[in-house]
Amino acid sequence: MNTTTFDARPSFAGEMDAQDPLATYRTKFYIPKEKNGEDCIYFCGNSLGLQPKTVRAYVEQELKDWELLGVEGHFHAKHPWMPYHEFLTTQTARLMGAKPIEVVVMNSLTVNLHLMMVSFYQPTLARHKILIEGNAFPSDQYAVKSQIAFHGFDPATSLIELQPRPGEAMIRTEDIEALIEKEGQSIALILLGGVNYYTGQCFEMERITKAGHAQGCVVGFDLAHAAGNVVLKLHDWNGDFSVWCSYKYLNAGPGSIAGCFVHERHAQNTELSRFAGWWGHDKKTRFMMGPDFEPIPGAEGWQLSNPPILPLAALRASMDIFDEAGMETIRAKSILLTGYLQFLLDQHLNENFFIITPRDIEQRGAQLSIRVKKNGRALYDKLMAHNVICDWREPDAIRVAPIPLYNSFMEVYKFVEILRGL
Ligand SMILES: Cc1ncc(COP(=O)(O)O)c(C=O)c1O
Repeated sequence: MNTTTFDARPSFAGEMDAQDPLATYRTKFYIPKEKNGEDCIYFCGNSLGLQPKTVRAYVEQELKDWELLGVEGHFHAKHPWMPYHEFLTTQTARLMGAKPIEVVVMNSLTVNLHLMMVSFYQPTLARHKILIEGNAFPSDQYAVKSQIAFHGFDPATSLIELQPRPGEAMIRTEDIEALIEKEGQSIALILLGGVNYYTGQCFEMERITKAGHAQGCVVGFDLAHAAGNVVLKLHDWNGDFSVWCSYKYLNAGPGSIAGCFVHERHAQNTELSRFAGWWGHDKKTRFMMGPDFEPIPGAEGWQLSNPPILPLAALRASMDIFDEAGMETIRAKSILLTGYLQFLLDQHLNENFFIITPRDIEQRGAQLSIRVKKNGRALYDKLMAHNVICDWREPDAIRVAPIPLYNSFMEVYKFVEILRGL
């Protein structure tokens, strides 16, 4: 299917749903309801993914084992808590296109970002800058500025923010490469969102990594909006580190546990400065309680604390669904859903609206951001009143994300009809 074969009749949405290999997955999730008991149109899984129905059983298993076993659950729970995070390693590696040694689930996203910068942002007088995308998520902006200041530099001179060309919304990859080539020798770290939270642009991570490494820069990615959304090949793309959260596309629940990737080439590097904690210590000697830190080789060596089991259980429930559905199938449906949404919006929207997300499917994920020139916030409020759950991002965008695991083509059709009506 390509975009030219989309059709504006409602029967088309029905036909697409009938052919959808993931159609039954919707029943695996709780869909928020309207007052009359009907399902809301939930296009906000880029902010908070819906609850898989299996989460309860996974979490209750741990509650039961805690009830029955107390501390012994660390060793004798059905899924012992001592190695519990390891139950997620294979699936996480598969989803992120990484080797098992390169991934770990731990902490929350901004915490992991800081931990990674402790190791991978080592500014010198000659090379002290951080390159981020303009309009990066505020937490990333705060994190990089505070790291720059922590090292005694000034964000006003050490932070470079990529901007699109005047009149454009997406940042062209060739412009990113040109900037890196020009200023790379002064850049210590390139840190981009895999998918920008505001525009929905999916950056060409492999090309950017290559350009950065050619200039001697460290390259990392914040994959909050990419994990579980687009197909990732983190090992092959060769970036130095990545971080992500699990409460958006990964459906592991509000504030759930985050993830971290450290490329294999750094697995044994004890020269890197890092903040250490006992859970990153060699598993064989961790309980000898010795004073000297010996990191586990690989991403696990960056762990600080023993992890929270209940969020890990929720994440396991969701990752089992991802495994069963397959990321390639999820992405294939996502491309059709956003293609269809764009097709309908193109048919019906007037000049008050502009889709700022790239039209090239390779450069976007499940989200389309619609810039509304006038009265955008009021329109968003009306959408919410019509039981469409999407979100509004200042200053002027409605973000809409049909999620392949639980949204349908008919919902896309209905959404555009409601928008037209308003
Ligand atoms: C791109 C990006 N980075 C960072 C964060 C902050 O995440 P956390 O609060 O889990 O640290 C978010 C949250 O939505 C985000 O979208």
